[in-house]
Amino acid sequence: MQTDVRPESMARITNETLAKAFIDEQIEALRAQIGSSKVLLALSGGVDSSVTAAFLIKAIGKNLVCVHVNHGLLRKGEPEQVIKVFRDELGAELIYVDAVDRFLDKLAGVSEPEQKRHIIGKEFIEVFAEEAAKLDGIKFLAQGTIYPDILESKDGIKAHHNVGGLPPELNFELVEPIKLLYKDEVRIVGKALGLPDNMVYRQPFPGPGLGVRCTGAITRDRLEALRESDAILREEFAKNGLADKVWQFFTIVPDYRSTGIKDGKRSYEWPAVIRAVNTRDAVTATVPEIPFSLLQHITARITAEVPGINRVLFDLTPKPTGTIEWE
Ligand code: XMP
Repeated sequence: MQTDVRPESMARITNETLAKAFIDEQIEALRAQIGSSKVLLALSGGVDSSVTAAFLIKAIGKNLVCVHVNHGLLRKGEPEQVIKVFRDELGAELIYVDAVDRFLDKLAGVSEPEQKRHIIGKEFIEVFAEEAAKLDGIKFLAQGTIYPDILESKDGIKAHHNVGGLPPELNFELVEPIKLLYKDEVRIVGKALGLPDNMVYRQPFPGPGLGVRCTGAITRDRLEALRESDAILREEFAKNGLADKVWQFFTIVPDYRSTGIKDGKRSYEWPAVIRAVNTRDAVTATVPEIPFSLLQHITARITAEVPGINRVLFDLTPKPTGTIEWE
């Protein structure tokens, strides 16, 4: 077992050469720890779990079993990308679990944000534990814990993150190949392991996913409007060179409607809210200037292409007073 304390002598990984040296060292350590046993990993497609998976595929190949749970709250194209990159390109043993109905049924009618988070977190562990119970011979559980998670859990800052998140009844030994790395190092190592840029340089995405952006009680039609409007925003930010200049950006579709006109008829539909923020650490955040003509173009596209949306708003609020997410 590796220590939880980053040694003073450990140089900051800032380039591919240092990343490759770290990878070689870790692979040897992982092979020594795991031997010929099997390892299970919950692969969300986020940076940390993706880099953890890439590490273990390199170290132990098919003895890593990845489980990707689609809870219905992922962004457009995400489950498909996880399957394409990990199963098709990296040859991983990947179990895809379509749990969309299960999550959305549990969330139906639930409007309180913390209760929604709780349901999503609990259901996720249940689905994962069920999948684990179907498998034989798993001895280890891999987790994408990173160094800030360890520091923050020591300080008691964060309640829900990777550290300590595993269901105790599963009784696995932990494998945490990136637990001494800072986020910038995780990205450099991920790239050196061969992951695509859009996976390694992904913006942060909350565990409860689109669930906290489809405010109030989630409905399938509004969730779909959220997913589609978010995809248009991401496409336009990427096309216009903003994707790597703005730290986090997404849409929110609140649970109220307003009147409008579509196809010459009165409409009574939801607004899509654009949220775009810059920050160093997500504790405070500012709202960057986005070219007005681009906002107009995005508004035109969303209102024309997304069923159920008849208005687009831009959230001008820095943090504080507004949090980055709406729930
Ligand atoms: P807020 O909304 O608190 O968000 O300003 C700060 C950062 O944390 C992310 N966030 C979450 N991440 N689970 C997560 O894993 C959550 O429940 C959660 N809530 C917010 C948010 O996307 C932002 O980057």
